[in-house]
Amino acid sequence: MTRILAIETSCDETSAAVVQDGRQVLSNVVASQMDLHAKYGGVFPELASRLHVEAIVPVISETMEKAHLDWKDLDAIAVTYGPGLAGSLLVGVNAAKGIALGRGLPLIGINHLEGHVYAAWLQVEGDGMPKEELKFPLLILIVSGGHSELFLMRDHLKYDRLGQTVDDAAGEAFDKVARLLNLGYPGGPVIEKAAAKGNPAAYHFSKPKLDGEYDFSFSGIKTAVLREVQRSATIRSDGSLPSGVPVPDFAASFQASAVDQLCDKTVKAAEATGATAILMGGGVSANTALRTAIKTRAHVPVYWPPLWLCTDNAAMIGAAAYWRFMAGQRAGWDLDVEPSLRLE
Ligand code: KG4
Ligand code: ZN
Repeated sequence: MTRILAIETSCDETSAAVVQDGRQVLSNVVASQMDLHAKYGGVFPELASRLHVEAIVPVISETMEKAHLDWKDLDAIAVTYGPGLAGSLLVGVNAAKGIALGRGLPLIGINHLEGHVYAAWLQVEGDGMPKEELKFPLLILIVSGGHSELFLMRDHLKYDRLGQTVDDAAGEAFDKVARLLNLGYPGGPVIEKAAAKGNPAAYHFSKPKLDGEYDFSFSGIKTAVLREVQRSATIRSDGSLPSGVPVPDFAASFQASAVDQLCDKTVKAAEATGATAILMGGGVSANTALRTAIKTRAHVPVYWPPLWLCTDNAAMIGAAAYWRFMAGQRAGWDLDVEPSLRLE
């Protein structure tokens, strides 16, 4: 039995979890800073690292208590070392180093994106979770506030990058359009809610033309939404919109366009690579329209984690760490944060 304490502080969630054999979540604690960043309309990096410093020790203590384990029951300490905000990552990496050194445990550095991938291996309740052992190759779509990437996963820990966003991440586009429509933060859930009452065909935001077959672009749609809103009304100086602006129609049309692009490339890539299934991960994979579109068009099974595993959490880091631990990988005491770390 392998038990790993995992720590995740790459963005605005302070999280710690204990995961057994990469599959069972013995505990997972998440302290979200979301409400505190909401008034800035996005994550404010300096505030994020300060809040991680305050939360990290209580979050780790609580996760150890909830797992009903003693330090001697652990086999390793895992931590996200990139990609993410440098100041935020530093808090997690230093906490992990301190514990590993103090308790004489090995340290494992994990790529945050690999965490999103391995959420699918956790044995948890969820209508989108695989019921059988996954077979390679797998097509992976990671869509969050910081990433929109397509990978082919050839085997455990082996990835080929197929495409990525050339500008904004998908979640970033949801957040920016939500701000523009004066709907609040984070944008994904509020856009999805507003879109449910709108007409997705009210406006047509055309697809970007890109060199990379599997690359994404979202900044053009965001600008197109802004132009259409400006055409229909004058945005007030405080950012609010006059009544009569068809906000649900804008939200629905934007969402339809973003989903269409993500779905199109994901399904095409799955067919071209002969993937046995599609795995979705990251905050935007919580979007029902996106899940439904991919599931409807794909010829292979499509899986997504339950909501608490879509957004940032340490359980997924503990899941990924198990496979790295079994492969004999250990980090040195010089493990440093890598804010622009890539997964390949
Ligand atoms: O994975 P995540 O929690 O953090 C990052 O690593 O970025 O993703 C957060 C992003 C935000 O941009 C948020 O607006 C988006 O995920 N999001 C959604 C939904 N729920 C969260 N986007 C679309 N539809 C949703 N239901
Ligand atoms: Zn994430």
